[in-house]
Amino acid sequence: MSEIAVLGAGLMGHGIALVLALGGHAVRLTDGSDAVLDRVPGLIAAAVETLHEAGALDRTETAEAVTARIRRSGDLAETVAGAELVIEAITENPEAKRALFAELDRLCPPETILASNTSYLDVFPLIPAARQRRAVIAHWYTPPYIVDLVDVVPGPETDPEVVGFIRDLVLGLGQVPIVLQRFVPGYIANRIQQAISAEVYRLLDEGVASPREIDDAIIHGLALRIPVLGHLAKADFTGLELQRHALRNGTYQPPPPRSRSDILDRLCEEGRTGVMAGRGYFDWSGRSPEELFRERDRKLLALKQAMKRVGRMEGA
Ligand SMILES: NC(=O)c1ccc[n+]([C@@H]2O[C@H](COP(=O)([O-])OP(=O)(O)OC[C@H]3O[C@@H](n4cnc5c(N)ncnc54)[C@H](O)[C@@H]3O)[C@@H](O)[C@H]2O)c1
Repeated sequence: MSEIAVLGAGLMGHGIALVLALGGHAVRLTDGSDAVLDRVPGLIAAAVETLHEAGALDRTETAEAVTARIRRSGDLAETVAGAELVIEAITENPEAKRALFAELDRLCPPETILASNTSYLDVFPLIPAARQRRAVIAHWYTPPYIVDLVDVVPGPETDPEVVGFIRDLVLGLGQVPIVLQRFVPGYIANRIQQAISAEVYRLLDEGVASPREIDDAIIHGLALRIPVLGHLAKADFTGLELQRHALRNGTYQPPPPRSRSDILDRLCEEGRTGVMAGRGYFDWSGRSPEELFRERDRKLLALKQAMKRVGRMEGA
């Protein structure tokens, strides 16, 4: 059991704190906003209830027991005192992160590992030079207590022992670390997601298909094979010569970079911003966001359990 401090208790911070507490670690959690910190026990109780319902967590592990392993404090110095690992999960703003790392440099002993959960920022230039050897990116996905992938990314000077520490920590949580050789914005999963988004904006804006048809194609065409084969093992099964011909023929051209989508702009201007607003690409009205998130999480957990039973293709 390690003492771990999590900075920022928003969407990601409270979820990461929960995953660490479920792994038996003593967690300290802080946020610049007391209101955000006060919300944490309720969010953790709801998440634990969802895990119980799905049979993904033993009922003897109660929300009270998990919450008791997360010490909340509005004070940064108190939060990081004695922590061997500090995980930064504050707002994705480079100047806020730079100021926080400068403060951590003042507060933490030299051996403390400083990890960032940033999605797209190269944080290493924002971290003081003296801390570079003990600095690393540890990037969870949302919700962290359901999605197992964690990207682990060293900076140019990161000690390999620090990468090993984070990798072992993530494995110990029952999650899946992947270690990248260097930082690239969006890592792997988010970059592939962005490539899918670019194609989807084109198909929608050019009127090729409706949101329902696009999601049907993804769910019934792409999704089934991915849990078993990933992408590259699927290519091996298709045969690489076919892939080579497809590339050479050039009949498919990826979408050019774009900075906007007509349909996305229209939906946002109409206030159709997604589940929280009751409507987005689809109409979710009539059910509360809590109910919708709960159904999503229940289904994701059921699928995850099936994926564990089935397993990926041996040899890949
Ligand atoms: N939202 C996602 O899906 C997702 C996924 C992976 C990684 N991330 C990354 O995780 C980080 C946090 O994202 P989020 O979605 O949880 O944001 P969020 O806005 O939900 O939470 C950020 C929290 O940080 C707090 N904060 C800001 N400055 C602070 C400071 N100096 N000290 C303490 N607390 C401070 C805010 O009050 C807020 O509660 C970002 O770097 C983001 O890129 C987000």
